[in-house]
Parts: sequence; structure tokens; C-alpha cells
Amino acid sequence: MPRLVISSDGPAAMPGWRAAFQHVAPDLPLAAWHDPALEITADDYALVWDPTADDLARMGGMRAIICTGAGVNHLLDNPAFPRHVPLVRMGGEQTASLMADYVLWATLGLLRGARTWAVQQNAHRWHNPCTSPRTSSETRVGIMGMGHLGTHVGGVLLQVGFQVSGWRRSAQVVPGIRTFAGPEQLPDFLRDVDILINLLPSTPQTRGMIDYALLAQLPRGAAFINVGRGDHVVQADLLRALDEGVLGGAVLDVMEPEPLPPDDPLWAHERVTITPHVASHASQEAQARYVVEVIGQMERNERPALLCDPRRGY
Ligand code: GLV
Repeated sequence: MPRLVISSDGPAAMPGWRAAFQHVAPDLPLAAWHDPALEITADDYALVWDPTADDLARMGGMRAIICTGAGVNHLLDNPAFPRHVPLVRMGGEQTASLMADYVLWATLGLLRGARTWAVQQNAHRWHNPCTSPRTSSETRVGIMGMGHLGTHVGGVLLQVGFQVSGWRRSAQVVPGIRTFAGPEQLPDFLRDVDILINLLPSTPQTRGMIDYALLAQLPRGAAFINVGRGDHVVQADLLRALDEGVLGGAVLDVMEPEPLPPDDPLWAHERVTITPHVASHASQEAQARYVVEVIGQMERNERPALLCDPRRGY
């Protein structure tokens, strides 16, 4: 009989997890990672966010590790991570919908210049230049990282009427979305993007990839949304691109480091909107529903869709 041992968010989150699993799968046995009497068995699944190296070392004999984050770079980068244990990323309908909602908000905000309105409001300034903004159907949105989340976000942007393209590591056909693959097609992808969205996984290949040289390949004045990881971006290059008008604006949900230090120039930048890593955090109940689905698949020896490949890094 499988059992779920919960470490994610520490002892304080345990009552919430218990209530969520009680609702979704009342028969699934639960245990708290922080219980001093805990004895781990080979039938146990772990639910984690950011366990310590010692915790990870103790997970080596478990059936699988399920992460409450959609990004797992912090686990795979930890030398103590037991690479032989299956690792599954967070997914599910609510995780994807929340991400799509955030990206839609950020995209429309950039399209309409919402940051300028916020700055004006802060200064009690009424300024209406009566210019006619570009519409969604006239705007080309490009998504870097067309995995589970990127594909969903692309579909939602398409429904709204944006022109959507995507870039990923290897070729893939997504109806309605023009897709580009690999480093050789990156310049062609960037050339036709008005709003660039980063949803890449953080891997040794993608870290630091979004630098001045990459941003300069976008049409001048394009905008940038980061919902991937802060370490994809060379932050000094991003600032330079904004200051030189290479980029017209940015919405950043992730930075390096987090929290962003109080004296970082990005905070006060007139064309930057900062949110504190909030894009997609599904409720405990929605996460519980997904976890139960994953455990069911693994118990039936099916492959969960978001099973990670440690060699690939996501
Ligand atoms: C948040 O960034 C996550 O990985 O889910």
C-alpha cells in the first residue's frame, strides 16, 4: 500500500495537506517527514519542495519523489539528490491555468503600457497622449520553452487572438503555433517576437542564456516576461537593454537572487513590473489531486507525463 510522506513547506503546512488529501483521497495513508518516529519504506512517496541535503540522502530508498514546484533545478543541482529515484514535477490543471492567467495579465499589461499608468497614478498625474495601442491580434508573442506549461500558455494566448510562436530544444508540432527548435533556429524565432515569454527549465544549457546579445535580436522595443527562473537572465544585460530602448518593458516574476535586494535598480525601473514569484502556485487541494493521480499512475506502472530525466535536467 503506497504512503505519502509530506515534507513540502514544513510542519506548519501539514494540517492543510491533511485536509486537502482527506478531501481528495481519504484512503491514502499520510505521514509527516518531520515526525521523529518516521520510518521510511520502499513503498513511500515523498512530497517535497526544497528539502535539505540530509533529507535528500534519506530519500534514496523511496518509491518516488514528487515536487510541489514545476521547476526542479534546485533538486537536481543538489549533489545529495538520489538520481535513481523517480522525480515528478508539479502539474495539473490549476498549475497550468494559473500560469496562463498570469502570462495573459502580463502580456496585456505590456501591450497597453500598464506600468506607465501605475507610475502616473503614483505621481497623481493625468496624462493621456491619445495614441492608439496595438491590438492582441496585431501582436506576436513568442514562448521560449514549449513544455507542459508553455504549450498550455500558448494555447490560451492563441484563443485570445495573439499570434503565437514557440521555441524549444527539439522540434514539435503544436496546432496554431509556429514552432522553432534548437540554437540554429533561435535567431529566426526572435526576429518576429514583440513580447518574449521565458518558460524554459533551468539547466546548465539555459542558465544565463537571456543576455544582451539575445535580447538585441528581438525587434527594437520588444517586451519581456520572465516566468521561468531568474538565472536564465543576465540581469545587468536586461537592465542595459531596457535603458537603451532595446527592450520596451519587462514583467519579472522570478529574479536572481530572490528576494530581489532592496537596492536593486530593477525595483524602481519605470518600465519594469516586479511580482514576488507568484505566477503559479496551485492550492493544496489542487496539488493533492495531481499527486494522487501521479501515485495512481506509478502504482499501475504507467509513466507520469512530468517524470523528470535527471540527465536532461527537467
Ligand atoms: C515555481 O517556480 C515552481 O517551480 O513551481
